[in-house]
Amino acid sequence: MTRDAAAIRALIERDRVHRDIYIDPEIFDLEIERIFGRAWIWVGHESQVKNPGDYIATAIGRQPVVMSRHTDGRVHVLYNRCGHRGAKVVGDREGNVKFFQCCYHGWTYRTDGTLKGVPMQRGYEGTGFDIKDPRYGMMKLPRVESYRGFVFASLAETGPSLADYLGDARSSIDDMVDRSPEGALEVVGGCFRIVFRANWKVFLENLNDTMHPMVVHESSVDAGKMWAGEHLPQGAPDPLPVRFTRNNGFPYDFWEKLTLKAHANGHSFMGGIFPPRRTDPVYMEYMAAMEQAYGKERAEQILAVDRHNTIFYPNISIQSGYQQLRHIRPLAVDRTQMDVYAFRLKGAPDEFYKHTLIYSNMVNAPSSIVMPDDHEAYNRVQEGLAAQASPWVSLHRDAGRERRDHEWTSANGTSELPMRNQYQAWLGYMTAEA
Ligand code: FES
Ligand SMILES: [Fe+2]
Repeated sequence: MTRDAAAIRALIERDRVHRDIYIDPEIFDLEIERIFGRAWIWVGHESQVKNPGDYIATAIGRQPVVMSRHTDGRVHVLYNRCGHRGAKVVGDREGNVKFFQCCYHGWTYRTDGTLKGVPMQRGYEGTGFDIKDPRYGMMKLPRVESYRGFVFASLAETGPSLADYLGDARSSIDDMVDRSPEGALEVVGGCFRIVFRANWKVFLENLNDTMHPMVVHESSVDAGKMWAGEHLPQGAPDPLPVRFTRNNGFPYDFWEKLTLKAHANGHSFMGGIFPPRRTDPVYMEYMAAMEQAYGKERAEQILAVDRHNTIFYPNISIQSGYQQLRHIRPLAVDRTQMDVYAFRLKGAPDEFYKHTLIYSNMVNAPSSIVMPDDHEAYNRVQEGLAAQASPWVSLHRDAGRERRDHEWTSANGTSELPMRNQYQAWLGYMTAEA
């Protein structure tokens, strides 16, 4: 069945969406073409390609791409495709090279994608082949832009600038970068990689969903409570790993009072749930480094921001306070790959980076006791939606009660505004004229 714009529009209502958007492979193919083929997609962070010759191999939708740093210091995003007979040139996930070499017939490419050498070049003399023709190089993606070290690319020749696309949602990237005394982040090490058995949108729906933690995470909340009961004196503050589990058990009242803000292009964020403890000696040392770098007033201003997950629709989420980034890649209608990165704040005390790693290990790792709770829920959603029961998925909570201001729409903390907002963006991409 081929759906026209009207049929696609019929799948998204103001406060409910049709189950086909999660289970129909044809819709998935259209999403790859119209969302991942058009939007600004996060590719990587400049610190992953620090030195000339550094590269990472990744993908946008079904397009294999390479992000590399050339000898002149510029960062490029190239299709990972040989200009000869099409082989994927870069096989490793990351590395450093003087030049790329295709494994098939040995064509070589500079790290800006230009074709460097072809064996037995005389065989091309008098043919239509031109070694300078960019179509025989590793071609550049149509649009690549960076915001404060975060590199995005688009497969579409035209569209809004990255600044317009991010809009004021940039403030969450600012929040993450400003927390560094040097105003710079770096990815340390690799990433956790997980493939989960659910549609990619199920993950995005979860990130600003405040009605799930006390239910889905009940067992990890209980584990945190139990540990504290057995190991801490009465009334003693929870150490960080325990807070990361127990805070999910806060009562509904707490979540209701959190801020939720949604942005026109599908982005959104929610207020923080793990504010730092200012009497913690490591945090005090960090605050001193921030004050030294920015002055007391500005440092206070930066550290007063408290946001939990920010979603940059459609493929990343950051947690700016603990320097986390989760990157998703849709593999199939019911399969999604997720990579989890931890960033170091340049200029912050080494001990402070441990807070970031504790967050990664307690909350975002495949071996943690928190994230698998969510993944079990994602799997159940995917399996449950196979049922030929009602075709509708409810997103009614607090529908119509949101408040509009300039670039943002705001709502009470337990509203399903962020999900409804994602589907308005989805509709925009899926029904736009090519
Ligand atoms: S396919 Fe790459 S050199 Fe032939
Ligand atoms: Fe969760």
